[in-house]
Amino acid sequence: MKFQDVISINDFGKEEIEYVLKTAKRLENELNEQKILQYAKGKVLATLFFEPSTRTRLSFESAMHRLGGSVIGFAEASSTSVKKGESLMDTIRTVEKYADVIVIRHPREGAARLAAEVAEIPVINAGDGANQHPTQTLLDLYTIKKEFGRINGLKIALLGDLKYGRTVHSLAKALSYYNVKLYFIAPQGLEMPRHIIEEISDKVEITETNDLESVIPEVDVLYATRIQKERFPDPAEYNKIKGSYRIDLKILNGAKEGLKIMHPLPRVDEISYEVDKTPYSAYFRQVWSGVPVRMALLSIVLGVIE
Ligand code: NCD
Repeated sequence: MKFQDVISINDFGKEEIEYVLKTAKRLENELNEQKILQYAKGKVLATLFFEPSTRTRLSFESAMHRLGGSVIGFAEASSTSVKKGESLMDTIRTVEKYADVIVIRHPREGAARLAAEVAEIPVINAGDGANQHPTQTLLDLYTIKKEFGRINGLKIALLGDLKYGRTVHSLAKALSYYNVKLYFIAPQGLEMPRHIIEEISDKVEITETNDLESVIPEVDVLYATRIQKERFPDPAEYNKIKGSYRIDLKILNGAKEGLKIMHPLPRVDEISYEVDKTPYSAYFRQVWSGVPVRMALLSIVLGVIE
């Protein structure tokens, strides 16, 4: 299987998703073998980050290095000619001369799609505004499979800023390919966009609520997210909602024994630090999944493995 770009989870069918997860597993198993360093040997990844990032950028870079490739790029557009007024199109036309694959994160929705239309080399979306974050979703699915051995049959709650959070937009869509029950828990005003619910509600059972406590005893996965402060048009609105939910030991009292808490990170105050040492916390193992899954995506779009 081969695909050129990774822009939106909507471009992926279940078969493609399963192929990425299988490839990630294979590469994770090959990590200590010499041959893995041959896969992307001589290839260059360009990481263009117009928004802050820790995990996404560094795990892509780690993935490329582990495949034997090399990395160029920027973590801050203010140090590039964008500052002088260069357009995204011209930036992409330039960078594609230096690299074999581009990973881009941009505050504007649709920016990655535009980059893919301009570029002749593969483009991977590392987050475009509040829209999509498909590679995060793939690593989230990989993590769920690793933790439970399956995705089917699970009850999965997505908690937090479901309006502006791009990770949950992509994840909700991908989960609708599986036999799961979904709970969307959001503070008032930050609910999952209607168009996403409409897209998936005939495929998957959804319960919408703003009552975290009542949902906790039912679920197998609690996927928490940060309120996306930077996307609020009005800071006063953010101040009203901030701190409106928090996962702590007390609220976890009624949780299922096998509950796994996930989070794309960064966390601000959604998960109290005391939860880290409980068996519920899976979020730092989830961080690791970024490496094999991004190794798989890079290998596939570069066409360097079968
Ligand atoms: C997320 C993002 O950038 O959308 N972070 C990530 O990639 N792991 C989540 C967030 O910023 O809240």
